[in-house]
Amino acid sequence: MDPLLPPETAEAERAFPQALAACRDLDALLRLKGAYVGREGSHVARLMDQLKAAPKEQKRDLGAAINALKNTWEEALKARQAELEEARKAAKTLAWDRTLPPPQPARGALHPLNRLMGRLVDVFRPLGFHVEEGPEVETEEHNFDGLNIPADHPARGSADTFYLAAHPGQLLRTHTSPVQVRTLKRLAPHIHEAGGIRFLAPGRVYRKDEIDPTHSPMFHQVEGMLVGHGIGMQHLKGTLEYALRALFGPATEIRLRPSYFPFVEPGCEVDVSCPLCAAKGCRVCKGSGWVEILGAGLIHPNVLDFAGIDANEWSGWAFGMGVERMAMMLSQTPDLRLFFENDQRFLTAMGGLD
Ligand code: DAH
Repeated sequence: MDPLLPPETAEAERAFPQALAACRDLDALLRLKGAYVGREGSHVARLMDQLKAAPKEQKRDLGAAINALKNTWEEALKARQAELEEARKAAKTLAWDRTLPPPQPARGALHPLNRLMGRLVDVFRPLGFHVEEGPEVETEEHNFDGLNIPADHPARGSADTFYLAAHPGQLLRTHTSPVQVRTLKRLAPHIHEAGGIRFLAPGRVYRKDEIDPTHSPMFHQVEGMLVGHGIGMQHLKGTLEYALRALFGPATEIRLRPSYFPFVEPGCEVDVSCPLCAAKGCRVCKGSGWVEILGAGLIHPNVLDFAGIDANEWSGWAFGMGVERMAMMLSQTPDLRLFFENDQRFLTAMGGLD
């Protein structure tokens, strides 16, 4: 240590190597640099002040001593900075483990409503039901006339149905029931060799409804139909009991209440014992223990006649159920709109409703 330098500089010089080694990152190094060689308040800055105040004859040697010390410190700081930068680069390289498999893209999944319709199809398939589809743009003939829906029925009004202005007689189907008409017509010529007809028709339907928590101008239904010899309400009830138990659990009870739909006679609404509270009464079943789940009945002879099937020889049943209603009940979702807003958090949480 130069005898010209003051004693507190000796202390700083002694402490420097340890302080330098203790710098584990570049931020710490910058702080140390500021304290030793920075423009203001550092050891070197203080020495420069002393140099200014020193007697003239000392200035040269003192100046040289300060400079030598400053250079030593600066060089050491620079070397340590290079070391730390090198270490940082190495750490980055290490963090990328090249032996790991590449990140997997998020897996897609069917929409919960499609999964639910798929479940229904799976329940009916072993009973010999296949899937039929029909167009979403339908004719009045298939959507109404073939289903024995009279010209003055309110469902035919422009307040309830989307008619295509540029294509008179065409509309967005209001239910999946027109698939009955199309399928019966197509399969009528083969009904004897096949011994009957049975199918499920899941799909999208449209009504002129305002959007609110329980209504949407677009929603989904699943239609079911069976035609055979001597088919009656007992077959409808037995089949629905089987299917709804498969869906809601083996303890499920069903009940049929008389109701009116033009394309069935007799017609009924079908309730299931509330699967959420074991029919004890809860918010979902509004305390009654029962939840309405679908409309059904024995196919009206006019529907069979319209499709070219002899109603004296053949009979059958049909049902139609609302998919959203069922999905909302199963998942206790209070707002139908959630199913259509495509919020990934909702869809992921919903899984497949199974
Ligand atoms: N199509 C009816 C609707 O949209 C539901 C329905 C009721 C379908 C009775 C049927 C049935 O096949 O037999 O509300």
